[in-house]
Amino acid sequence: MTAEAWFETEEFLSGLLCPPDPDLARALHVSEQADLPAINISPLQGKQVSFLAKMVGARRILEVGSLAGYSALWLAKTLPQDGCMVTIENNPLHAVIAADNIKAAGFDDRVEVRLGNASEQLALLVAEKVEPFDFFFIDADEHNNVTYFESCLQLSRPGSVIVFDNVVRSGEVRNLGTSNGAVRATQRLLELVGGSDRVDGVVFQTVGKRGHDGMLAVRIC
Ligand code: DHB
Ligand code: MG
Repeated sequence: MTAEAWFETEEFLSGLLCPPDPDLARALHVSEQADLPAINISPLQGKQVSFLAKMVGARRILEVGSLAGYSALWLAKTLPQDGCMVTIENNPLHAVIAADNIKAAGFDDRVEVRLGNASEQLALLVAEKVEPFDFFFIDADEHNNVTYFESCLQLSRPGSVIVFDNVVRSGEVRNLGTSNGAVRATQRLLELVGGSDRVDGVVFQTVGKRGHDGMLAVRIC
């Protein structure tokens, strides 16, 4: 199959399964207008992640890497009225745009955008002894995914699920000799998850608009 076929197949599937949503459309439009990198998850991936959050019955969600707030909106839409979500973003412009998209969709009562370095922000949340989160979506600088994972463990409870984007990278993940630091970090993360009896993990490989990639879902035992 070609990349074009993957793209068209995803268009077909999202056409059937992801009904038009003005809040999500607005977030993508604003993102494009502001020239943000077009590395947001695709609509079908948005549905995949929010589907998992719903299955967990997530009331408290933590995201790392808000970008324009597109995935945050997918996730926020799964929250109950009294649920809450924190999304961490290191880029001040991205954080402003994300907060604006979240406010425009009416979720600013439930979703807080925290500007700052994610490792520091996660350490702050740990120090604040906040209630555990039920669901995590990590879609940021993959170099730091092991650090993020360790913080998420401290912010979780048995049954919580942590999802990491971009763990396959066109199959680059299987290249143990890679010089790509992000991929090496993913390999370390997978080894940690596979070798731990505190957590269970699986990778959902995806092909589509974002090429060949995958998400690692980790469940705390
Ligand atoms: C890219 C894609 C992503 O999902 C991401 O989080 C970062 C970068 C990319 O295609 O470059
Ligand atoms: Mg990503």
